[in-house]
Amino acid sequence: MSRKKLRLSTGAAAVVTGAGSGIGRSFAYEVAKRGGAVLCVDIDEIKAQETADMLTSLGSQAVAYTCDVGDAKQMEVLADKAEGILGRPITLIINNAGVGAGGPIGEVSLEDWHWCLNVNLWGVIHGCHFFAPRLKAQGYGGIINVASAAAFGAAPEMTAYNVTKAGVLSLTETLAAELTGTGVKVTALCPTVVPTNIVNNGRLPAARQEFAKSAMTRFALTTADIVARKTLDALDRGNLYMLPQIDGRIAWRIKRIAPRLYAKVIGETYRLFAS
Ligand SMILES: NC(=O)c1ccc[n+]([C@@H]2O[C@H](COP(=O)([O-])OP(=O)(O)OC[C@H]3O[C@@H](n4cnc5c(N)ncnc54)[C@H](O)[C@@H]3O)[C@@H](O)[C@H]2O)c1
Repeated sequence: MSRKKLRLSTGAAAVVTGAGSGIGRSFAYEVAKRGGAVLCVDIDEIKAQETADMLTSLGSQAVAYTCDVGDAKQMEVLADKAEGILGRPITLIINNAGVGAGGPIGEVSLEDWHWCLNVNLWGVIHGCHFFAPRLKAQGYGGIINVASAAAFGAAPEMTAYNVTKAGVLSLTETLAAELTGTGVKVTALCPTVVPTNIVNNGRLPAARQEFAKSAMTRFALTTADIVARKTLDALDRGNLYMLPQIDGRIAWRIKRIAPRLYAKVIGETYRLFAS
């Protein structure tokens, strides 16, 4: 069977950012389960190593790599070195690393805005900038960008985060158009709530911490492992979007049909649950 007829997620040589925790760790695990090799990238050296050790203990090829996705130079070096580290051309980049910053507009510090934009948006831009041309040149590969239902969901007090995810969605849609016919598939992942460490690792006003933590369990309709599995399947099918949960798919449709009503309902629902 020719290489192009194989499923992209099978036997991939993958770079997964934010692989030290949550959805990134699940992506790394799922790629390995499908016979792939994984470069486990994270800003947290210990967490990246934990993931790589977990995969190697299961018999997979995995290497930990410490890198800040928001730093262009570090990402360029990663792209230069990745093939040499895994011993074969990279076929899959999963731009997953992300952080949460929240609070009412005007109260979120500009420092938190910059932090969130740098990791969530610039991190994905760097991943696409340095890896997409290589995949395009080899005429084969996949790019998964982890956006969020926040890209269209407009949840109050999440402005900085929402802006970054809308940017990631637009970037991914544009990339999909640009790479049509090149042999490179592109998928944007847009989950709603997935139980991970994102709240613990994020920057939220003290008054919102408990609500956010409880929301991670109260509103979670899936797990990180299921999300990773569904997204790799979506990439194999050539789907541009993966909205893994029903609440995200409903919000996506209502927003398009009745945007003003949607804003009112989401605002009032937030006040009800967050008060
Ligand atoms: N958990 C959710 O409910 C949810 C919903 C929608 C989208 N997402 C997105 O999923 C992605 C993964 O988040 P998660 O929920 O697994 O969170 P998480 O906090 O469990 O994992 C994020 C990982 O990214 C790493 N990271 C943070 N900054 C980094 C940087 N500058 N460079 C490299 N690595 C860095 C962290 O060390 C951590 O290991 C994020 O993009 C997030 O926005 C999460």
